[in-house]
Amino acid sequence: MKQAFIKDLAGLVDQEVEIKGWLYNRRSSGPIAFLELRDGSGWIQAVAVKADLDLAIWEEIEKSTQESSVLVVGNIAKHPKKENVFELQVKDFKILQLSQEYPIALKDHGPDFLMDNRHLWLRSKRQWAILRIRDAVKTAIHQYLHQENFISVDSPVFTPNACEGTTTLFPVPYFDLGEAYLSQSGQLYIEAAIASVGKCYDFGPVFRAEKSKTKRHLTEFWMMDAEAAFAEHEDNIKTQEGLLRFIIRHCLNNCQEELKVLERNTEPLEKADQPFTRYTYDQAIKKLNEMGSDIKYGEDLGNDDEGLLTKDSAVPVFIEKWPKSIKPFYMKQDPENPDLVLNDDLIATEGAGEISGGSQREDNFELLLAKIKAEGLPQADYDWYLDLRKYGSVPHSGFGIGLERIVRWITGVEHIRECIPFPRTISRLRP
Ligand code: 4AD
Repeated sequence: MKQAFIKDLAGLVDQEVEIKGWLYNRRSSGPIAFLELRDGSGWIQAVAVKADLDLAIWEEIEKSTQESSVLVVGNIAKHPKKENVFELQVKDFKILQLSQEYPIALKDHGPDFLMDNRHLWLRSKRQWAILRIRDAVKTAIHQYLHQENFISVDSPVFTPNACEGTTTLFPVPYFDLGEAYLSQSGQLYIEAAIASVGKCYDFGPVFRAEKSKTKRHLTEFWMMDAEAAFAEHEDNIKTQEGLLRFIIRHCLNNCQEELKVLERNTEPLEKADQPFTRYTYDQAIKKLNEMGSDIKYGEDLGNDDEGLLTKDSAVPVFIEKWPKSIKPFYMKQDPENPDLVLNDDLIATEGAGEISGGSQREDNFELLLAKIKAEGLPQADYDWYLDLRKYGSVPHSGFGIGLERIVRWITGVEHIRECIPFPRTISRLRP
């Protein structure tokens, strides 16, 4: 018999199907057993009636345990009471492997226990929903950027120099060449690639030796860096907004079931799909001071400041044109004020914090060299990057988004550790 997938069962009512999957839960009520099955594509309740089955099949059902792998044959029926819900009326049942003493019971466990058992916890309905939304966000990013004529170009993970400041670098011994560092962002490399392909993006794991123990910092996270030639600050803002709104719509259109599993109120997401708000850094600081924050001009925004600034906003907020003293060397000086750079941080709603950061890049050789020297960066490591300003330099801009930050916002999950299959934080390297 042909294997059917739970997600397709609505179209197979009254037909006999075979499902291969796992037993999530079994409840028995005398001569009737209710089996909650999952097969990766979805979840369904199977009903087994002792009187309708051979004794051997009924005994196999009674023997089955949580997370045993199983093969179930039965008829698909509409749920007697619930609209759009289907049931499997069991005719045959085989245990493929009997799971013994599955450690995660269907009750509340502490986060440390669950993280220690992350390899198993991924099977829960909640983690299933998060994994699927993560996939939908990635798909949306690829779709939108291709639609906007970006192509994907991969950047290396071993790098000889810092992209985002030397304090969060992870060093790795590298044969006779001394030390390499795990990439903090592929940006500098895709800046090289735009001179070949015009617009491109990379998407992969990046690494930050962040000592911060917060609900939104990982030491390994997935970053999408996009870069475009002949694009200026305004174009860069437009692409970021277009991408974020596309991601929201894609998830709302494709992940209703998953959002329901997570009990996510989707109204704020629906409302966020409107033109985003823009403040200059200067305006943001003034606004924050008015709202009671003691942040001073020249300081970076903390988590609380980001939350305060977006508290009453239905849409994400861009904060643009920051003091150059607190931003990386590659950002382009604002022609209207040499103390500022043409950059933006994008802060999501509902306290989700910064999800994207971008800038127009310094395309002038002398200014870039001066910045590299001023920051005390080893010039020899950046010679290749400076070359890009020697041979056909053009105005260009780009941005990077943190995948897990977006997943955290869309899912409404509190801690970023649930937004990546196997999180790496300052205190976690296993499993
Ligand atoms: O603002 P960041 O550091 O920007 C860059 O790395 C640029 N080179 C990107 C570019 O212009 N191509 O990081 C970009 C985004 C942040 O907005 C945030 O979403 C995410 O990466 N991020 C983190 N996510 C999880 N854990 C961390 N420790 C993160 N640090 C940054």
